[in-house]
Amino acid sequence: MALSIRQIHPVFVGEVSGVDLRRKLSPDDIAAIDDGMDRYAVLVFHDQDISDEQQIAFSRNFGEIENSAGGTVTKPQEKRLNPLMNDVSNLGRDHKPLARNDRTRLFNLGNQLWHSDSSFRAVPAKYSILSGRIVVDKGGNTEFADMRAAYDALAEEMRAVVEPLVCEHSLMYSRGLLGFPEFTEEERAMFRPVRQSLVRTHPRSGRKSLYLSSHAGTIVGWPMPEARAFLRDLNEEATRPENVYVHKWRRFDLVMWDNRQTMNRVRRFDEAQVRDMRRTTVAGDAPTVEQEAA
Ligand code: OGA
Ligand code: MN
Repeated sequence: MALSIRQIHPVFVGEVSGVDLRRKLSPDDIAAIDDGMDRYAVLVFHDQDISDEQQIAFSRNFGEIENSAGGTVTKPQEKRLNPLMNDVSNLGRDHKPLARNDRTRLFNLGNQLWHSDSSFRAVPAKYSILSGRIVVDKGGNTEFADMRAAYDALAEEMRAVVEPLVCEHSLMYSRGLLGFPEFTEEERAMFRPVRQSLVRTHPRSGRKSLYLSSHAGTIVGWPMPEARAFLRDLNEEATRPENVYVHKWRRFDLVMWDNRQTMNRVRRFDEAQVRDMRRTTVAGDAPTVEQEAA
C-alpha cells in the first residue's frame, strides 16, 4: 500500500495513509512525509499503536531528537518517561492523574496557551510528533494555527513593521501569564530568555511565517507593555478560526507538526481521566537570530 496524503482542512493539514510507523520507512516514504510537512505543516496518522522506542526511531528519520531537559519544572527522578520523550500527559510516575495543585500539572497547563514548541530554546524545535496512547472522549482537543497564513494575512505596512523584530522567549513569560507561582533560582537560570526572529522563512518552501508563541514576552528595544499589547494583537489575528485546525483524538492517532510554521495548544478536559500523550521533538538546526550561547 503506497503512502498518500489528503488535505483535510481548507488551509493546511494532511491526513496520511498507507504507512505503518512501527516499521523502518523506505527513503521514498520519508521523502513523502518531509514534502508533506513542507506543504501541509501538520500531518495526521491514524491507528499507529507504537511503542516509545518505535516513536523515537520514527522521529530520527527527520533529524536529531531534542532532549526534554530544560523544558519543565519536573525533576528527573519524578519523570515517567525516557528523557527523549516529552510527557504531555496528566499523569505522574504512578500512572495516576496528578493532584490538582501538583507543580508539574500547573506548569503543564501552559500548553493550553497558543505556543510553538521549544521557542524558549536558543535553537528551537523543528517538528513535534505526538502520540495519543490513551485519549479522552470529551475535550482535550489539540488545536493548530497556520502561521504562514497568519503572515500572508498581514497588510503590507504591518509586514514591514514585523519583519526586523526580535522577541525574547522564556517559559517564565508563558507561565507568568497564568500566574504560575515562583520559580527557583535554578529554574530562573534554566529558563532565561532567548531571542527569536518574529518572521521566519521556511528553508525549503521559502514561505514566510509569523513566529509567535506564548513564550514571547517582549520585543527587543520596545517597552514591555507596548510589546505585549502588540504581540497579543498579532496572536489574536493569527489564530482566527479559519486558520485553525481542531484535532479530536482517536486512540493511537499520531500527529506531527512543524513548529516553524504553526502554533499549537491543547484544550481543557476532565482531569480525573487518564490522558496519556507522548511527544518526541525533532531539534531545529540553527538559532533564528545570533545570540549568546544558551
Ligand atoms: C504538545 C502540547 C498538546 C496536547 O505536546 O506540544 O502542547 O495535546 N500538548 O497535550
Ligand atoms: Mn505544544
